[in-house]
Amino acid sequence: MANYLLGIDISTTGAKALLIDSRGEVAGSATTALSLSTPKPLWSEQAPADWWEGIVQSIREVLTDTGTRGHEIAAIGLTGQMHGLVLMDAAGEVLRPAILWNDQRTGAQCDEIRARLGRERLIQITGNDALTGFTAPKVLWVQQNEPELYARGRHILLPKDYVRYKLTGDYAMDKADGAGTILFDLKTRNWSPEVLAALGIPAEWLPPTYEGPEVTGRVSAEAAAVTGLVTGTPVVGGGGDQAAQAVGVGAVEPGIIALTLGTSGVVFAATESPLIEPEGRLHAFCHAAPGRWHFMGVMLSAAGSLQWYHDALAAEVSFDSLTAEAAEAPAGSEGLFFLPYLSGERTPHPDPLARAAWVGLTLRHGRAHMTRAVLEGVAYGIKDSFTLIQNAGLGAIRQVRISGGGAKSPLWRQIMADVLGVELVTVNTTEGAAFGAALLAGVGAGLWTDVDAACAAAIAITGQTLPSSQMEVYQQYYPRYQALYPALAPEFRAIAAL
Ligand code: XUL
Repeated sequence: MANYLLGIDISTTGAKALLIDSRGEVAGSATTALSLSTPKPLWSEQAPADWWEGIVQSIREVLTDTGTRGHEIAAIGLTGQMHGLVLMDAAGEVLRPAILWNDQRTGAQCDEIRARLGRERLIQITGNDALTGFTAPKVLWVQQNEPELYARGRHILLPKDYVRYKLTGDYAMDKADGAGTILFDLKTRNWSPEVLAALGIPAEWLPPTYEGPEVTGRVSAEAAAVTGLVTGTPVVGGGGDQAAQAVGVGAVEPGIIALTLGTSGVVFAATESPLIEPEGRLHAFCHAAPGRWHFMGVMLSAAGSLQWYHDALAAEVSFDSLTAEAAEAPAGSEGLFFLPYLSGERTPHPDPLARAAWVGLTLRHGRAHMTRAVLEGVAYGIKDSFTLIQNAGLGAIRQVRISGGGAKSPLWRQIMADVLGVELVTVNTTEGAAFGAALLAGVGAGLWTDVDAACAAAIAITGQTLPSSQMEVYQQYYPRYQALYPALAPEFRAIAAL
């Protein structure tokens, strides 16, 4: 019997295959590490072939480790890093390394997109301003900087959809990820002829788009032969990693907020209609739950800031020891602030040239303060997005569900609850976007009637973190944090020009 579901997640750091059973219990998981190439400052690329090789290995591994046969898998769901541009020729060959979500080379192309469409019109159609992370400016960049290569282009895909192509032979994409290209009309949930025409991108280069649980194709004989899967296994649309992560923690209805402390930090709110933040400060995309949308604020270096800090300055100490030490420093780190803009920023400062900094160092400060300031700086950055979401006219926030690698630290959860001034809850599912993709596959296979039912069956609350009296300290400190970016932004620009 086909009782298992396979979730595939192509993240920047690894290709993960997650197997769950028909009750939503995790049966096994395997991840093949992926590396990132930064051939020039601000650039960030990966070879699509590495994603495929990585996921073939992970699928084989999870099947072997769990003793699962291909025919026991009812359906497959895909998720992965959003926005990355995969450009392919007529024969389906990849033309250049993929330009990823965290690549910051396209500042000029963003200005050009705003100029061609008008910023207001762009936000009206796509729900979003042109930001360097999104796909459309990357397409323009190739058009302008690699014209011979662009001339050979015939297909545009996103990272997980390249893997879909290798699995099924079909060019297809889900609507959540489609919206993240900003070539998409948020209201119609389809490609925008107006945006495509304004940017000179042929509409036929874009694949058909599908809702998260919809079947987009089936595993080909060729893919079955290398993976151990069975020919004909259905593959559903799935979703970009943030939408799938939200499904994976049950943030599929208005009022439930997903807060993710991964490499990036995300505040995510589902909506029943295609709401737009008029200034485009929040991203507005389609949800992986059919007929729903979502707002989201994204900071680029959340747990990524702690990872960088550890690797660069405290590699000999474990994360647990570092945070234990940080717990000894008082709330507010005695006037030390960390600006977490290690890779530039998106929300609320869409600025690829923003830089990270500690501000307020004195002789009194030691490593404990510096670590704590990193945790607090990320929490302040998350509060920026959270406040925008609170003020976006969504109605009452009933619950905030925290997940991601950073959420494993009780100290960071407490700092987060104190800085945001709200109760945070954790859930039983810890496999993130891959779990959401597997649930979407389950809906596609008819195991659950819809995404709400899948989440209700598989997800439960496991813990809570209440704000403490330290909340008051952070109420005093947060405005000082907020004042630092505007004060330093002109200098960041000048430094970038050196
Ligand atoms: C979302 C975003 C990141 C990537 C990385 O807009 O850019 O979350 O998807 O995983």
